Formats: sequence, C-alpha cells, structure tokens
Amino acid sequence: MIPEFFEFYNPTKVVYSPGIASDFKAELDLLGASKYFIISDKVISDLGLMKRVVDGLESTGVEVTGVFLDVPPNSEVKAVNACAEQAKAFGAEGLIAIGGGSVIDTAKAANILICEGGDLIEDHSGAQTLTKPLNPLIAIPTTAGTGSEVTMVAVIYDEENSVKMAFTDKFLLPDLAVLDPEMTTSMTPGLTASTAMDAMTHAVEAYVGLQWSPVSDALASGAIELICGNIVQATRNGSDIEARGSLLVASAMAGIAFSHSMVGCVHGMAHAVGGLCQVPHGIANGILLPHGLEYNFEEITEKLAKLAPVMGEEVSGLSPDDRAKKTIESVRKLTGKLNEMGALPLRLREVGVPEERLPEIAEAAVMDGTSFYNPREVVAEEILVHLKNAY
Ligand SMILES: [Fe+2]
Repeated sequence: MIPEFFEFYNPTKVVYSPGIASDFKAELDLLGASKYFIISDKVISDLGLMKRVVDGLESTGVEVTGVFLDVPPNSEVKAVNACAEQAKAFGAEGLIAIGGGSVIDTAKAANILICEGGDLIEDHSGAQTLTKPLNPLIAIPTTAGTGSEVTMVAVIYDEENSVKMAFTDKFLLPDLAVLDPEMTTSMTPGLTASTAMDAMTHAVEAYVGLQWSPVSDALASGAIELICGNIVQATRNGSDIEARGSLLVASAMAGIAFSHSMVGCVHGMAHAVGGLCQVPHGIANGILLPHGLEYNFEEITEKLAKLAPVMGEEVSGLSPDDRAKKTIESVRKLTGKLNEMGALPLRLREVGVPEERLPEIAEAAVMDGTSFYNPREVVAEEILVHLKNAY
C-alpha cells in the first residue's frame, strides 16, 4: 500500500564522523558566512564541548563574534530575545547551536528575530509564517533524542502566558547538522536512556502515524533498528563511540521521519505530564510508549506487526495480532532493562505525578496538537484508562 499523496523535503545537510565537530571547514566554506555567533549553555561550556568547536574554528577563517550561554533547560521567549539582540549587536552572519533541543530551538527562534525582526510570539508563532530564508544555522547536537538538528520545528515557552509555543516553518530547517558522537559521551546513563527513548518514540509514532509515507517509514524503521541495537550498550558504557554514534544517527533519522509523519498520543500524554507535572520529556515518553501503542492497538495492528522483526523479535508462525503484541512486549523488555540499570523509571508514580491529576492530564492530552495526527481519536476517559495503567 502507498499513500495517495505525500511530500518529503529535507534540505538539511547531515555530516557524521567522530571528531567532526572540531573539523568541518569544508562545510563552512560552502555556507559562505564569515562571522558566526555561538549559542550553547553553561553545562555544555563547563564540559569543554563548546571549546572543542571554537578551537576547531580557529584555522578556518571564520570569526566567532560572540557567545550566548543563558539558554534555560526549556527555552523561553526572554532567552530568545536576549540571544537575538546580542547576535545582532555582534554583527553575526550565521549561528552555531551546540547543545540539546532547547539550545537548538533557541537558535532557530533567535534566527527569526535576527532576520525578520518583530515580536516572536505575535508575529511568528504557528506554521509557515516566514517569507524568506534565514541566516545560515549550524546545529551540533550534544544529546541523541530531539532530532531538532533536522526538523523544521522550534518549541519555545511563552512565560507570560504559561504556554509552550510551536514554530513550524521550512526556513527553520538548519542548513547543516554536524553529528559527532564524541560530543555526546558526557551524557549520564539516565539522560542517555531517556533521550534515546524520545527518539524511539519519534520513530515508532511516525511509523504508525496517519501521515506515514514509504520514505518516512524507511527512516523510522532504520532508526528503530539502530536504537534497539545500541541503547543498552550506550547507557551501560557511555564512551562506546560506535553505540553513541548509532544513537545519534538514529535520532536524526527519527527526527526527519517525525517531522514528516508527525507524532501521536504518546507525545500528547508526554506533553501533558511535562506541562502539568514537570516530568522530563524523554522519561515521559519512555514510560508512556507501550501504553500509547495499546491505546491505538486496533488501528495500528498491521504496522505494529511489521516492527517486531525490526526490533529483533522472532515472529515466524505468528499472526499479525501476535506480532503486533510482540512489538509492544519488545518495547517493555527494552525499558525494563534500562530500568534494571537504574537509567529509566517505568511508572508515572515514580516521577512525581499525583494520581488525582490523571484526569486533568488526560484532558490536556486530548487538547494537545498531536491528537490531530493520532491514528485513533483521542478521548479523555479512554486515554485515562491507559494513563492509570502507566501509573
Ligand atoms: Fe519528542
């Protein structure tokens, strides 16, 4: 089966190699800008990761005009405004973002203000509001999960109205994603496991989602295979470059997949427990993925069945229904192993979610934008059953 219509657009150039974050002169020459402003955070700076990139730029002829390190864990409008003002004052022609999703999203949003001006929320939030390409943006991820280095989305917290705002535009796609596994080796086992489960959820939800295409399916199933084969090893031994690299590439593949096929109710629930109970995004997805798949089971049986062998399960002789169940079992085996290693909680009760707030979380999941793309209608009292299972 093939969809009647789909589109695929991915102009972001991806380069991968251990050590490449301090050696990508050839790519800089192609982009043409000569003055770059760096956006990162204090943790990345203290770990010496930013210095690796800056040292590497010294012999390239590119000038670093300034550095912005005040990106909060969940990026806010205030930080974006400050970052854009400084980058403009320093005469930056391009931006280099070094960090996780919050840093990269801050850089994307700041680039809007640098090139278009105006008020971030009033003038630019929503979809396809930009009219022309922005300045060159280079993204160097230091986690393997969000995929922001290859997506056209930025999520910024509007602190005045206490709401997370999404910006979606093809001009937000970074020009270059520099994937260097050596930039991710400092992640703790907990952060490794939870960010990789975010990537896994992107891939699985993209694969079973309504807006699937053969192209996004190929990227999603490739990402799932890489994550299943490497998540435990990267969590156990953070300096294993092969395992780290596999997760980093998988995260980018999953990012490209979900930015075309979208995500569904697992992300809807994760956004709700994140917004209402401050559960970190990757942990929430790690807990909720099997439960969201159970919610959607009837609608996605056929697609889910195809993922069981991708995840390494023996399925010969099994019915599609049993194969699909195997896929969910496989996710549980994986998160169970990570839990035994002390790297991932398995229940909402373990991460500070009060049981009495579950109905409110269910309502928020229904209102989340991801409901629109979920294979099954997201209904509060029915999703509540699965939130209780996850509790
Ligand atoms: Fe996510």
